[in-house]
Amino acid sequence: MKFVVINGSNLNLLGIREPEIYGSRTYAALVEMIKTHAKEKQVEVSFVQSNHEGDLVDAIQQAYFDKADGIIINPGAYTHTSIAIMDAVKAVRIPTIEVHISKVSEREAYRQVSYIREVAEETIAGLGFEGYNLAMDHLIEKLGEKK
Ligand code: DQA
Repeated sequence: MKFVVINGSNLNLLGIREPEIYGSRTYAALVEMIKTHAKEKQVEVSFVQSNHEGDLVDAIQQAYFDKADGIIINPGAYTHTSIAIMDAVKAVRIPTIEVHISKVSEREAYRQVSYIREVAEETIAGLGFEGYNLAMDHLIEKLGEKK
C-alpha cells in the first residue's frame, strides 16, 4: 500500500507556531514519526508540504498519477476555505482522511467549516501528531476491507 501525507499552510512551522496549540515538536519530527509508523505497518509513505493552495491541488492530482492507495491530508487554514482542494479529492477518488492537530470543533467559529470533510472518509482532530498515525491505521483497515 502506498500513501501520501499532505500538509498545507504553516505546518512547516510546527514547533515554532503557537506551541500551546500545536505542541513543540517540529514538522521534521512529524515526518519521522509517520515514517517509523509506516515502516512498522509495512506501507510506503511520501510527504508533501506547501503553503500554496495550488500546490496542494497538484499533490492530490499527483497521488492519482502515482496510483496512491490513500491520502492523509491536513490542509491547514485551506481546510476552511478551499473548494479547489475539495474538488481535487473528489476528482481523484482516492480514500482520504482529514487530520487536524488541534481540536478545531472547540476553536473559533471560522474553523468549524471544513470543505474537505464532506469528501473525506473520516476526520480526525484534536489528537496531536498521533492523529496522522491513526489516519494511516484507519486507511489500512478500510483498504483491507475492500479487497
Ligand atoms: C489545523 C487547524 C487549522 O484551523 C489551522 O489553520 C491550521 C492547523 C490543525 O492541524 O489543527 O493551520 O489544520
